[in-house]
Amino acid sequence: MSFKIKDNITWVGKVDWELRKFHGEEYSTHKGSTYNSYLVRDKKTALIDTVWTPFAKEYVTFLRQETDLKSIDFVIANHGEPDHSGALPELMREIPEKPVYCTANAVKSLKAQYHQDWNFVPVKTGDKLSLGSKELIFIEAPMLHWPDSMFCYLTGDNILFSNDAFGQHYASELMFNDLVDQAELERECIKYYANILTPFSKLVDKKIKEVVGLNVPVDMICTSHGVIWRKDPLQIVNKYLEWANDYQENQITIIYDTMWNSTRKMAEAIASGIRQGDDTVVVKLFNCARYDKNDIITEVFKSKAIVMGSPTINKGILSAVAGILEEMRGLGFKNKKAAAFGSYGWSGESVKMISEKLKEGGFALANDGLREMWNPDKQGRENCINFGKTLASTFK
Ligand code: FEO
Repeated sequence: MSFKIKDNITWVGKVDWELRKFHGEEYSTHKGSTYNSYLVRDKKTALIDTVWTPFAKEYVTFLRQETDLKSIDFVIANHGEPDHSGALPELMREIPEKPVYCTANAVKSLKAQYHQDWNFVPVKTGDKLSLGSKELIFIEAPMLHWPDSMFCYLTGDNILFSNDAFGQHYASELMFNDLVDQAELERECIKYYANILTPFSKLVDKKIKEVVGLNVPVDMICTSHGVIWRKDPLQIVNKYLEWANDYQENQITIIYDTMWNSTRKMAEAIASGIRQGDDTVVVKLFNCARYDKNDIITEVFKSKAIVMGSPTINKGILSAVAGILEEMRGLGFKNKKAAAFGSYGWSGESVKMISEKLKEGGFALANDGLREMWNPDKQGRENCINFGKTLASTFK
């Protein structure tokens, strides 16, 4: 599959309909993904990014149908991660002498991954590459999301090739932001930001302000995953600015796992208490052993506060709860509140342990949490409802 974005620009990537896990098993891709690669023709021809390694042969075969490989003058590697650089070895075997433009950090990451001494041309922010009538201008974007990441901007067509930034794991045959289901698109964009870019929010904010400060027109944003932003392309830039600045909605998310339903009953009673205390707040409950981890993280990203529960087992907490806590610690959410709860039979360490891990993850604790012994009775349920009511006002 290939299609024209403009007369002089052809998409030559891969739509991966079957992908269900990305980054190993780390990221769920319910809607598949795409690896976008672009052929830019002027007096000279540039190829921007390639595709993931398993599709390398297929990619080069289709690319050859699109153009004589020898006619490619410049290869641009915006990022060294294998979902974009994975077809470089297959491609460069055919055109080994062609220059590969990338950041100095990408020279390191590409060499270390593929052990090839291609004709690397390291570039810095502001460096320009003439294609004839138009130029590619390079913009380093370190830690968005690897040290080697960069964007490039095509003058004349006013297109920002942003690599991972502004992308989504979203397979579609439509490929333009104005043609796809808008709710699906927004869901995949925010999930991508929450799960991948949250730790780099300060840098996202700074880089966007730097690019906007260049005062160049942007008619299109061509990312490396998902749709091309051609209708109001700055809408996704503005969303990123919002998301990068301690984003939150009026939502409280309750996350728990349970052994014999006691902690589940607590979760449901706490939810009821929160709603009684504040009927404007959105409350969502997730059993984290049964619900997709990345979708839960997206809900945490949207929340002003979370409430986490686990029964005590072996003086600790259930592994699904531990997994989410570790995921949140790594992402480093800011400006969010939290509280813990859990049922227990005798020793009852879970609430203290969850509280400590939430604190370590940067959450502001509302209180010492709530424990209920065995299966909550009428009084136990009332305790949970009152706990929820108090949280509703603390989290307001
Ligand atoms: Fe889509 Fe960081 O690779």
